[in-house]
Amino acid sequence: MSRLVVVSNRVADPETQASGGLAVCILQGLRQHGGLWFGWNGLIVEEESDIRVACTRHDNVTMATMPLTERDFQEFYLGYCNKGLWPVFHYRLDLARFTQENSESYRAVNNRFAESIAPLLRQSDLVWVHDYHLIPLAAGLRARGAANRMGFFLHIPFPPPDVLVAMPEYEWLINSMLEYDVLGFQTKTDHANFCRFVFGFMGGEMLSKDTLLVSGKRLTVSVFPVGIDVDDFASMAQTPEAEMRIQKLHRRGEARVNIIGVDRLDYSKGLPDRLRAFKRFLELFPHHHKAVTLMQIAPPTREDIQAYIDIRHELEALSGQINGEFGDYDWTPVRYVRRSIAQETLAALYRGSHVGLVTPLRDGMNLVAKEYVAAQDANDPGVLVLSRFAGAAEDLEEALIVNPYDADEVAQAIQRAIVMPRKERITRHRALMKRIRARDGRKWMESFISALVADRGPDDLHPTT
Ligand code: F6P
Repeated sequence: MSRLVVVSNRVADPETQASGGLAVCILQGLRQHGGLWFGWNGLIVEEESDIRVACTRHDNVTMATMPLTERDFQEFYLGYCNKGLWPVFHYRLDLARFTQENSESYRAVNNRFAESIAPLLRQSDLVWVHDYHLIPLAAGLRARGAANRMGFFLHIPFPPPDVLVAMPEYEWLINSMLEYDVLGFQTKTDHANFCRFVFGFMGGEMLSKDTLLVSGKRLTVSVFPVGIDVDDFASMAQTPEAEMRIQKLHRRGEARVNIIGVDRLDYSKGLPDRLRAFKRFLELFPHHHKAVTLMQIAPPTREDIQAYIDIRHELEALSGQINGEFGDYDWTPVRYVRRSIAQETLAALYRGSHVGLVTPLRDGMNLVAKEYVAAQDANDPGVLVLSRFAGAAEDLEEALIVNPYDADEVAQAIQRAIVMPRKERITRHRALMKRIRARDGRKWMESFISALVADRGPDDLHPTT
């Protein structure tokens, strides 16, 4: 079996598994398969000359990590990736900023990654690159002679062509995607957006359902919806410790009904819109006053970027406003928690909440939606209210699907979720569990790797294979 080489900006810590659900999911897959994981170690050094690749081995997984310089952090990570690509790919051209320095830094860091990975590669390795930070990595590796099978998976949305072309250098970026053998997207919408671009702007054509021919290259382009380890998450929500946490939540909270939202404090998550919808719910259904609380957990992220500072201020002003206007000495309508919470605690909080409110304005997949479902008690489950703009909505049809921009619609969905009869909740939950099991983390990993190893036959047009 070929060795798997995974490359991503963030990596998980194999000892503590501390990091997002996604990184943990990759780690679990790597453990099954064995392989190498290359990425940023999260540290910052002053000079480029201080950068060293450090390798550590954990059973059958080798972690190879290196730091970024302060300049890389500012211009590559915060600059090009998160002030440029992130807003464009989330359809937020109004927030996108591109500069020459940031663009040069993006190329330089990708080159440095390629330079450091190339000597570690064996001929038969399968290379799997993750996310928007590293789009041109395959091009850098190919330029250094690597003829390996390489795949790229985009965790975030891919925008429609009209949005993409507003970005400087979009042609260069898309051309560098064509250096991969396999391109993976979260949803049919992202896949269709990409295909519309290559058909309309580059004269590409589909040779079969998943095989694209463009600029003389043939590549597999497909949808691989990311998932979670359902049983693992479900069992986390059922432990005696989880039970204690749930009881504490219900005892401490003044309200009988808990609504939960868990999101990085990012403008793509639609947090102010969510609070406005909750306010509308309180206006429309005053008999729920003192009975319902929204707990919003929102760990801060990318805090040096102005758009993130602004969204935090807006969220804090709104939660203060709602609590001031509707709250009382014995009831706080919005419980806003600005820190990250351990997965075990989250699992318990999900299970103890009657409504999961997942209303991003645009999201690649949104694993919180899947985790909320997995954590529910099958005999008395809560209800998922889900934005139609989360990738997860393409599959999770039995959630209450809402338009997050429409405060009235979200308010009505919250009301419907709260009064939904148990029988209907059980039916919906069963169907949702079936869906998240059918597309779990293991399936995601295995189907991508299968596409990567697939033999494409003798008429393969890729120049480097
Ligand atoms: O899912 C998109 C993503 O950018 C991941 O690549 C990343 O791990 C996560 O969001 C958190 O973002 P950041 O790495 O900027 O903290």
